[in-house]
Amino acid sequence: MTTLQNDTFLKALMRQPTDYTPVWMMRQAGRYLPEYRESRKTAGSFMDLCMNAQFATEVTLQPLDRYPELDAAILFSDILTVPDAMGLGLSFEAGEGPKFERTLQQEADIKQLSVPDMAKLQYVFDAVSSIRKALNGRVPLIGFSGSPWTLATYMVEGKGGTDFLNTKKMAYARPDLLHHILEVNAQTIIQYLNAQIAAGAQAVMIFDSWGGALSHNAYKEFSLNYMQKIVAGLTKTAEGKVVPSIVFTKGGALWLEAQAAIGADALGLDWTVDIGQARARVGNKVALQGNMDPAILLSTPEAIEKEVASILASYGHGHGHVFNLGHGITQWTPPENAGAMLAAVKKLSKAYHL
Ligand code: CP3
Repeated sequence: MTTLQNDTFLKALMRQPTDYTPVWMMRQAGRYLPEYRESRKTAGSFMDLCMNAQFATEVTLQPLDRYPELDAAILFSDILTVPDAMGLGLSFEAGEGPKFERTLQQEADIKQLSVPDMAKLQYVFDAVSSIRKALNGRVPLIGFSGSPWTLATYMVEGKGGTDFLNTKKMAYARPDLLHHILEVNAQTIIQYLNAQIAAGAQAVMIFDSWGGALSHNAYKEFSLNYMQKIVAGLTKTAEGKVVPSIVFTKGGALWLEAQAAIGADALGLDWTVDIGQARARVGNKVALQGNMDPAILLSTPEAIEKEVASILASYGHGHGHVFNLGHGITQWTPPENAGAMLAAVKKLSKAYHL
């Protein structure tokens, strides 16, 4: 394996000293980039990009080629590859988001759910190996998965953009059924992330995008406990290096202390929390990743630089911060505004690492 030329991101996740604050953007490969839209047109569809290692590699590297400031690459794929491999029949209608042919609402269907053969997800592991080769040690590669709860919302509802009422009804009326789905998801995700690590992923992130929809008690029971199980089952080192883990519950900042206790190396933060206050609460246990509102990238370079300065100042001096957005970059972001954010992080963060 080639040596890593830039390990700033991995060091920050381990709360080790760095010269500046590393940065990457959730959904950094995507529709806001004209080169991505071009590749998607050539491939045919979003899933064609994901299922072909050459296309997945091409689009993963696009933001890195455009923005030399990026300190990490993230596997180009989707969290919904997992329920698709379980036989639910994923499709993406243009402009409508994800849809499943089959949902998990009947007891008989739920009881049949089991951990799929990882061979069905071989295309993801092939993409990881291909991207690692193409990166050639430039920056580390992040592998990822959805959380058991977040995947369950899609599996039960059959689509996104809902208020999760079927899933929440199951949580309260038939918790045994939902726990079965979550347990199968957790066991699947352990195998899935470990196979990504074996293929070359150098850090892993769990996206709990809809954990914030749960009530206080339900969050621990239906989301956090299962993420804890996953973190405990992850491969801890590969190629002689620690493989750090990041857990991100969107809308979950009320529960940071509980999240910091599950064994992950870092926590993702959305934009609803002050990162300095988050650091005071859990910074002695975990690194923090975040937390600029992606909507700010729709404004001006001046407003963007001001917000970058404010987040860096709030986190303050010292290590353990990975700069990122609080959620995925939106498709309406002017690419030059993303560039302005990345440049501002590079320029302004050095002062906090002296
Ligand atoms: O960050 C990256 O650059 C890596 C790629 C990545 C994608 N999806 C590509 C994608 C990652 C890490 C994801 C994770 C993902 N997918 C999450 C968790 C993160 C989050 O945003 O909360 C979720 C909830 C999904 C499910 C999903 N995939 C939805 C709801 C949609 C449709 C909505 C949308 O933004 O279009 C997708 C499609 C999707 N996944 C796209 C991309 C680039 C857009 C597809 C296209 O090109 O049309």
